[in-house]
Amino acid sequence: MACNIKALSLNHQIVSSARNLTVDRKMGTASAVSVPVFPDTVTKTTTLSIKNPQSTEKLLTKTVDGKEVYSQGKFGRFGGKFVPETLISCLGKLEAEFNLVLHDSEFQEELAIALRDYVGRETPLYFAQRLTNHYKNSKGEGPEIYLKREDLNHVGAHKINNTIAQAMIAKRMGRKSIVAATGAGQHGVATAAACAKLSLECTIFMGSADMEKQASNVLLMKLLGAKVEPVEGTFKDASSQAIREWVGNLETSYHLIGTVVGPHPCPTMVREFQSVIGKETRRQAMEKWGGKPDILVACVGSGSNALGLFHEFIKDEDVRLIGVEAGGFGLDSGKHAATLARGDVGVYHGAMSYLLQDEEGQILGPHSIGVGLEYPGVGPEVSFLKETGRAEFYSATDKEAIDAYRRLCQLEGIFPALEASHALAFLEKLCPSLANGTKVVVNISGRGDKDADIVFQYEADRLSGLMA
Ligand SMILES: Cc1ncc(COP(=O)(O)O)c(C=O)c1O
Repeated sequence: MACNIKALSLNHQIVSSARNLTVDRKMGTASAVSVPVFPDTVTKTTTLSIKNPQSTEKLLTKTVDGKEVYSQGKFGRFGGKFVPETLISCLGKLEAEFNLVLHDSEFQEELAIALRDYVGRETPLYFAQRLTNHYKNSKGEGPEIYLKREDLNHVGAHKINNTIAQAMIAKRMGRKSIVAATGAGQHGVATAAACAKLSLECTIFMGSADMEKQASNVLLMKLLGAKVEPVEGTFKDASSQAIREWVGNLETSYHLIGTVVGPHPCPTMVREFQSVIGKETRRQAMEKWGGKPDILVACVGSGSNALGLFHEFIKDEDVRLIGVEAGGFGLDSGKHAATLARGDVGVYHGAMSYLLQDEEGQILGPHSIGVGLEYPGVGPEVSFLKETGRAEFYSATDKEAIDAYRRLCQLEGIFPALEASHALAFLEKLCPSLANGTKVVVNISGRGDKDADIVFQYEADRLSGLMA
């Protein structure tokens, strides 16, 4: 996000439960009631009935990918710009710049070169022979498993597809410094790398607990020249702090959002820059077997790697789209990050979407062994895919993800990020139900070297009886 506005009242907020906003449904904007800026929890003041027959009717139409759905940053009843009025013009400028670069051949050419020569695209669509064998039944039949190798991108995850493009936009807008928040550290490293390349100052906010868990990524960010600022708490707290920092320096800084959340145009912009994953997958599938994939599987934290893979195929109704959320200790444990399975609709970080919140609209702290999945919300477009039924969503527990991590190491010699291991874990349930030869593509959103310590610690805790 970027803006030229000089001052902004810190008494405004863009973090809130839907229940304490006066909503203009048509515009997707809201007048916030007077609560402190970016609180972690919000007290409910009024009750707003979100479900209304009109919006449900709209959702049942087939305009899943129609322009009218996306033009205002509205995905059915989700999305919008739930921000103080003063930020609307700032977001408008970002939207205008984004629309410009989409059609600017110079920008597109520069981005294509960066993606090829710096990021290392295209990433392979790898046939996982031994994983495929693992899922064969007694008759030797089963699906064919392919891995989209986003782990092979420069700095190890899909995040760089977006950070390089947004850093280029920031530069065009004359911004000198970038602020961002990171959970697993992958977005932080990808942002720091893009800033080093484009000579931009970089400050990354990270939860102190996450800094301990992902210490190697903290070192990498520092080596890349970024300032890493600890924030008490986890990713959601770091996100709020990054926005606060940006709001204080609107003229010179740019808030580089790492996933498909936030007010419009952020979700659309990040999805657009990540959709290279699906576009390549379509072309590679055509080259490899002369058709489309039958099923796409991706983990869902907030949804950027999932939408990056899915978006290209949304209109292909014969392609199943499956998102896998973090089931943590189990959905009934209260310790998970399965927002779509157990969340409720609300407004958080500037957009309406599913959220983990209690009866009173207080944000619930998420948990996952995959640090990058620990966010209490999810992107509005992902919520729309759930509500229209176009995509299916399931969850995998910490233990299932750890088992899947080990399985891929041992069968294919690949370390998947623990986030992506959730998508791999779901294959255990999915594959026995599939016809012979079904083509399944799993998005390996990042590399898992960063998680080796967590895997060993998890198993040590389990053996010593610290964990059930
Ligand atoms: C490797 C990796 N995969 C997935 C995610 C989850 O984010 P998203 O759902 O936006 O792809 C993260 C977040 O940090 C990540 O680092």
